Amino acid sequence: MGDLTPKEKSLPDLRVNIGSLELANPVMTASGTFGYAKEFENLMNLHRLGAVIVKGISLHPRVGNPPPRIVETACGMLNAIGLQNVGVDRFISEKMKYLAGLDVPVIVNILGDSLAEYEEITKRLAGVPGVAGIEVNISCPNVKKGGVAFGTDPAMAAAVTSVVKKKAKVPVMVKLSPNVSDITVIARAVEDGGADSISLINTLIGMAIDLKTKRPVLANVIGGLSGPAIKPVALRMVYQVAKVVSIPVIGIGGIESAEDALEFMLAGATAVQIGTANFVNPRASEEVIDGLYAYATAEKLTSIRSLIGALQTISPQPQAF
Ligand SMILES: Cc1cc2nc3c(=O)[nH]c(=O)nc-3n(C[C@H](O)[C@H](O)[C@H](O)COP(=O)(O)O)c2cc1C
Repeated sequence: MGDLTPKEKSLPDLRVNIGSLELANPVMTASGTFGYAKEFENLMNLHRLGAVIVKGISLHPRVGNPPPRIVETACGMLNAIGLQNVGVDRFISEKMKYLAGLDVPVIVNILGDSLAEYEEITKRLAGVPGVAGIEVNISCPNVKKGGVAFGTDPAMAAAVTSVVKKKAKVPVMVKLSPNVSDITVIARAVEDGGADSISLINTLIGMAIDLKTKRPVLANVIGGLSGPAIKPVALRMVYQVAKVVSIPVIGIGGIESAEDALEFMLAGATAVQIGTANFVNPRASEEVIDGLYAYATAEKLTSIRSLIGALQTISPQPQAF
């Protein structure tokens, strides 16, 4: 793992390190937009990915929300899938064998409604062959605390991180929700909780209305906004977080091209995830990888690592606007 394919050996070095995990290149697939990878095997070369991140897994299977649960919006989409998934046990018995056969790291995205659920899922994943990392989705409501999302309260975000970290046998990446007033507070909290890396952003809460029926378009009324519409927000948050933590930051939000990915790396991201773009173009992540090789070749980069956080700013501190 981490060795370049023979074809890529003569190309620039795109390898990056997410803590103890070395990726052949900085491009991963974002949770919930790439199924369990097998769905994409005839559409692209899975073996070229930096890492695969699978659909969020809960302790028990979830059927998700009733339809309609997806709607296209200006420069993006809203989804209210409701975290539908097969549950951790079926994931391990039915999906993991195929995933373990891929020669790329597989990161399992997990979710729960209580600390105990996060803990139990992590325990069940510990030692499962092929699991290279865990990504913790903290956007979920804590049912025991009246439905406040784990990711909006620094103490709860730290608590869920440390619960997972204690049971995990692999590096732990914590995925932040952008639906907070100060993302740096949550980022620091999860770093203090023991996170090995931070990924951001998850979707922004939004809604759409059908004027003809005078009803919300989504059966769930509200949903998560993703796609190019959220890229500037994601970029700003990655920039802010990368400045205040010392663990690797992974950028997510509206990335469709190598240029988008490079912007996130300049802002401080060590790696990126491709989400909604997979629905528009199933080869999007492979094309981003091709574009990174082309850029690194044209710029004569010895290593793509030299771009991480290399943003040139006119004034050291952004001013109010
Ligand atoms: C249909 C859909 C399902 C998603 N499911 C999950 C999920 O299960 N777990 C998770 O952490 N994020 C999930 N996400 C969020 C994405 O992984 C990503 O953080 C977000 O869409 C922003 O990136 P993008 O603009 O590139 O799509 C989902 C997004 C979409 C569009």
